[in-house]
Amino acid sequence: MLKRIAVLISGGGTNLQAVIDACESKRVPGQVVGVISNKADAYGLKRADNHLISSHVISRSNYPDKKERTKALIKSLESMKPDLIVLAGFLEILQPEFIRAFSDKIINIHPSLIPKYAGKGYYGMKVHEAVIKAGEAFSGATVHFVDEHVDTGQIIIQESLRVASDETPESLQKRVLNIEHKILIESINKCLRSEV
Ligand code: GAR
Repeated sequence: MLKRIAVLISGGGTNLQAVIDACESKRVPGQVVGVISNKADAYGLKRADNHLISSHVISRSNYPDKKERTKALIKSLESMKPDLIVLAGFLEILQPEFIRAFSDKIINIHPSLIPKYAGKGYYGMKVHEAVIKAGEAFSGATVHFVDEHVDTGQIIIQESLRVASDETPESLQKRVLNIEHKILIESINKCLRSEV
């Protein structure tokens, strides 16, 4: 039986695409059963459509109250009966009720070597800008379980790269994304095969 994977996104969805492709080519023993975005204009929603995957928008506009938004998220995910929930560029901090509802089933991909450049305020391009500004020799990506704090859960896989001398935040983002796409699939496999 294929495992059921739900993916939460906020933007372009290249990590979502990597998960869809890995499922379709059977590199992962699972299927993406639903996508949720907190942004109505996220390009990742189009990626879900392209693969006939149902998607939902649960945003600040349709659920301005945070508690109601969390309830809607929980309800929507419960209906998908997921074995695994993947935060793939989902840029909203989740409430403890949400984490408790799906404990040990939620993983997140983060574009830095956690614990560096992680936690509140570090997301997306902001991470790469900070790494370049600090003159770091290394950066990378981390997949970890989600607990009730930001970017603190158990690390599943982390992979690093050397920051080039002429690196820009944009070039770093691109190189880190390549790592993300790879370690996200490896981490999903570990979780679905109960190897973590
Ligand atoms: C990725 O780099 C992901 O690591 C990051 O957002 C990007 C989403 O790209 N997530 C965070 O910063 C979470 N704190 P994508 O939409 O192309 O997958």
